[in-house]
Amino acid sequence: MVSAVATLEPTGAALLRRGQSDEIGRVVRLDTDPYLWRYAARVRGMSASEIRALFAVASRPEVVSFAGGMPDTSALDLEAVERVTAQVLRTAGATALQYGGGQGRAELRELLIEVMTHQGVPAHADDLVVTVGGQQALELIAKCFVDPGDVVIAEGPTYVGGIGALTSHQADVRHVPMDGDGMQVDLLEDLLGRLTAEGRTAKYVYTVPNHQNPAGVSLSLARRHRLAELAESHDLMIVEDDPYGLLDFSGRILPSLRELVPDRVIYVGTVSKTFAPGVRTGWVAAPRPVRDKLVLLREAADLCPSNLTQMVVEAWLATQPWREQIKRFREVYREKAETMLAALHTEMPEGVSWTVPQGAFYVWLMVPSGIDTSDLLAKAVNHRVAYVPGRGFYADGTGGDQARLCFSYPELGRIREGITRLGELIHEELELVRAVFGDDAPQVRPRQQGHATGPGG
Ligand SMILES: Cc1ncc(COP(=O)(O)O)c(C=O)c1O
Repeated sequence: MVSAVATLEPTGAALLRRGQSDEIGRVVRLDTDPYLWRYAARVRGMSASEIRALFAVASRPEVVSFAGGMPDTSALDLEAVERVTAQVLRTAGATALQYGGGQGRAELRELLIEVMTHQGVPAHADDLVVTVGGQQALELIAKCFVDPGDVVIAEGPTYVGGIGALTSHQADVRHVPMDGDGMQVDLLEDLLGRLTAEGRTAKYVYTVPNHQNPAGVSLSLARRHRLAELAESHDLMIVEDDPYGLLDFSGRILPSLRELVPDRVIYVGTVSKTFAPGVRTGWVAAPRPVRDKLVLLREAADLCPSNLTQMVVEAWLATQPWREQIKRFREVYREKAETMLAALHTEMPEGVSWTVPQGAFYVWLMVPSGIDTSDLLAKAVNHRVAYVPGRGFYADGTGGDQARLCFSYPELGRIREGITRLGELIHEELELVRAVFGDDAPQVRPRQQGHATGPGG
C-alpha cells in the first residue's frame, strides 16, 4: 500500500514511498506536471479559474448557466454586422488583412472618442491605445507597473480577469469591501493608512465603478468625489475599468473618475458589451508617458491589434445606429434583471440576500453561513443550474458564502427555471445544515435585498 507522500521532486513528480519490508525505498513516480521546475516563479502558482472549468459544464444544453458573463449577441442586428464586415473586405480588404500600428488605427481611435464622449468621459485620440479587449489592457497595465510583491488595491469582490492580470505579475492584491454604493472609500482610506504604517505604497487602485462585475453595484457620486480627493491627497493612481458604463437600465451616467482626476486615471474601455466580444476590441486612455510604455509592451506581446476587426468596429461605429443598439441592449438586460430578481424573491429561502443591479449583467448572491458555494456547485450542476462561486472573485480566498449570477445570456424562461432549481437546492441545503447542527446551526440572516445589502454580506 502506498503510505506516504514525501517530497515533490524538482520535476514536479510526486514521490510516493511503498510501505514495509523489501519494498521500502522503492519509489513510485506519479507525474503531475513535468515542466513545473522550469516555469517562471510567477507562473508556478497559476491554476485554471473556476469560470474556465465551468464553461465546459455550462455549455451542456440542459444546464441553465448563470456562470459566464456573456452578452446576448442575439440582440445584435446580425445582418448589419454581416454588411459592414463584407463592406470592409470589399472596399479595403488588402489593408484589413495587413499588419497595423501598435497604437491601433487612428480612424478607430477617433470613433472611440465619440463613444467616450457619449458617456461624458474626456479623452483625445492620441491618448488611446487599442487593445485586444479590455482584458489585454488590464494585463499590459499590470505588466507596466507591478513588480513581484507590489501592492495593488481592488474592490472585494472584484473581476476575476482583473485578479488574473494582477496575480500573473505577482501583485499583492489587497481588497476594500463594498456595499450597495460600491467600494467603501472610508475603508480604502484606512487601508492606505495601514500601508503607510507598513512602509508600503499601493502601485494603483483597480476599480470597476459602474455596475461592477461581479457585485452588480455602482460607486455612488459622493464616493467618486471622495475617491478623487484621496487620489490627490495620497498620490494614488487609479485604473478605471469601465465595460458597463453605457448599460444603465435607465440611461443614467455618473461622472467617470477620469473626468474628476484625469492625470491620475488610466481608463479602460471595451466594445465587448456594447457591440460584440468576438471582435476583441478594447482600449486604454492613459497619460502620454504611460501610453508610450503601453504601446511598447503591446508590441512585445502581439505587435498590433487585428486590422480586420478594428475596421469592422470602425464601420459599425461610422455607419450604424450604435447608440440605438446600446438602448436595445439596455432594454434586453433590464427585462432579464427584473425576471431574475422576481424569481429570486419567490424562490429563495429566508437568509439568502442579493444585490439589485441598476444596469449590466450581474446579481451578487449571499447565502447563510454553513453553505459553501464552491462545495455546492457540483450539486447545482446536478440540478442543472450553474453559477460562479464567490471565492474566484477574491485574491485572498474569502467569499465562500457568496456567488455571482449572470442574467445577461439565458432567455427569460430559462432564468426563471434556473432560479427555481437553485432555490430548491439552497432550501435542501439549509435543511441539511439544520439536520446536522440542530440548534447549533449557523443563524441565518433575515432575507434582504436591495441597496441595504452590500456584497460581502
Ligand atoms: C470588469 C471587466 N473588465 C474587463 C473585462 C474584459 O472584457 P473584454 O476583454 O472582452 O473587453 C470584463 C469582461 O467580462 C469585465 O467584466
